[in-house]
Amino acid sequence: MLRREAPSVVAVEPLGAYSLLRVERATLECGDPGQFFMLTPPGRTLPRAFSLCLAPPGELAFLVDPVGLGTRALVELQPGDRLPVLGPLGRGFRLDVPRPLLVGGGIGIAPLVYAAERLGRAPAILGFRTPEHAKAASLLQGAEVVIEPTYVTERLSPGRDVLACGPEPMLHAVACLAPSAQLAWEAPMACGYGACFGCAVEIRGRLRRLCVEGPVLTAADVVPAELEAA
Ligand SMILES: Cc1cc2nc3c(=O)[nH]c(=O)nc-3n(C[C@H](O)[C@H](O)[C@H](O)COP(=O)(O)OP(=O)(O)OC[C@H]3O[C@@H](n4cnc5c(N)ncnc54)[C@H](O)[C@@H]3O)c2cc1C
Ligand code: FES
Repeated sequence: MLRREAPSVVAVEPLGAYSLLRVERATLECGDPGQFFMLTPPGRTLPRAFSLCLAPPGELAFLVDPVGLGTRALVELQPGDRLPVLGPLGRGFRLDVPRPLLVGGGIGIAPLVYAAERLGRAPAILGFRTPEHAKAASLLQGAEVVIEPTYVTERLSPGRDVLACGPEPMLHAVACLAPSAQLAWEAPMACGYGACFGCAVEIRGRLRRLCVEGPVLTAADVVPAELEAA
């Protein structure tokens, strides 16, 4: 169930190029892997979207890539600070697939860590820009890790039910190789619950709000042109 809370920060732990932001769970529910939460950084009016990465007892943990003002403010939070949180939101991954394969790129590994926890054991391929970014792969034990110039798409095995999250070019490449893949998109979002149309994208001639109909969409839904060309 969707809730709004302002739980206390437990810790912010550096993990290579990223940071793991741990907050008290309070009355918030974890939701499904691939669903997201809107976190309002200190000093900012607009919240930012984050996938749940880990759900330790009594806590929610988010993996944060400090790319701008809001995310940098989040990684500077101190234990005991209050953080406004709204969630869980959107539609996550379907986990009822027979042969799951988790495919992540960069910060896109965040929802896959939680997906792996919910699936039990599932193979994973994770790709990163640098060895420093790849340190976050320690969150997903047993994962195969590749670093650029090697790409995750070079290691995809056929016959798998792919659950993927990562940068847009990676998702397009995965979609071409695995038309039944479930892809989690990280489009910029302002409200997170369907009110602003800031996340709307045109798919097959229809505007779809990624925060409501996604962020997880099937590959064939999103890139039919590329699939036809493949
Ligand atoms: C459903 C969803 C889940 C997400 N999960 C995570 C997560 O687990 N961890 C994480 O670190 N980030 C995640 N993101 C991305 C995160 O929301 C953005 O990085 C954040 O909003 C940037 O805020 P900022 O104020 O730091 O950056 P800004 O100052 O607003 O922007 C800095 C740079 O980041 C780019 N940017 C802004 N928003 C996004 C976005 N949504 N996606 C990609 N680039 C963006 C801008 O174009 C700019 O280049 C997720 C986004 C979505 C939509
Ligand atoms: S983020 Fe406002 S409608 Fe999707």
